Amino acid sequence: MSQQSVAQWFEHARSVFESAYTQHSEPWKQSGMSGPEERWVALRKPVADCMTRSGSFLDIGCANGYLLECCLRWCAERGISIDPYGLDLSPQFVELARQRLPQFADHFFIGNSLNWIPPRKFDFVRTELVYVPADYEKQYINHLFEHYLEHNGKLLVAHYQEGTADPTKGILAGSHPTRYILDRLAELGFQPVGYCDGYDTLKGRKTRVAVLEKPG
Ligand SMILES: C[S@@+](CC[C@H](N)C(=O)[O-])C[C@H]1O[C@@H](n2cnc3c(N)ncnc32)[C@H](O)[C@@H]1O
Repeated sequence: MSQQSVAQWFEHARSVFESAYTQHSEPWKQSGMSGPEERWVALRKPVADCMTRSGSFLDIGCANGYLLECCLRWCAERGISIDPYGLDLSPQFVELARQRLPQFADHFFIGNSLNWIPPRKFDFVRTELVYVPADYEKQYINHLFEHYLEHNGKLLVAHYQEGTADPTKGILAGSHPTRYILDRLAELGFQPVGYCDGYDTLKGRKTRVAVLEKPG
């Protein structure tokens, strides 16, 4: 892909996400999850489960900030305190996230995680591989290790369609159609140190969040 095509790909991604999420009022639907809130809990709590100690947490693709708000609560229930940060392509979503978590308004950034460099590093960073075109996935993970993660930091690679029959469904053209996240990470040369799963009994969907450790 040329530089210009990559820029167009992200511009298209931003407008697809904005038009899909802003037609809803429920906070989880404004974060891209259809259905009732119990589906959201089943399929997103594994992100919080991957955080096993207190520390800073950046949600890449934070949308309206609802996952951060929930992770604060889910982690607090286990005695874990997180300092939440968010990054999104969309200025509109970052504004919603700042309104949702006004006490952390200066913890939200607008940028494209493929090339944006944060002003600090984090103990935990969550992302999905579909946020970048397929050919950029390896470069993307290495960029996050280099610029986003503290020494000993953990990269949480969420896959919200784990084991799906048709992995091309629901992703942008040009993203890699991943069926199993551990297989895809192995293809790219990464070996996770663990993972957390979630299962939605309503639609039979599965989430797997793979945990990668920053190389020493
Ligand atoms: C499915 S929502 C994720 C919401 C929430 N973080 C979660 O995990 O449920 C995806 C979000 O990622 C953002 N996004 C996609 N690609 C991105 C990129 N390269 N850099 C920053 N944000 C991106 C979109 O604008 C959208 O708000």
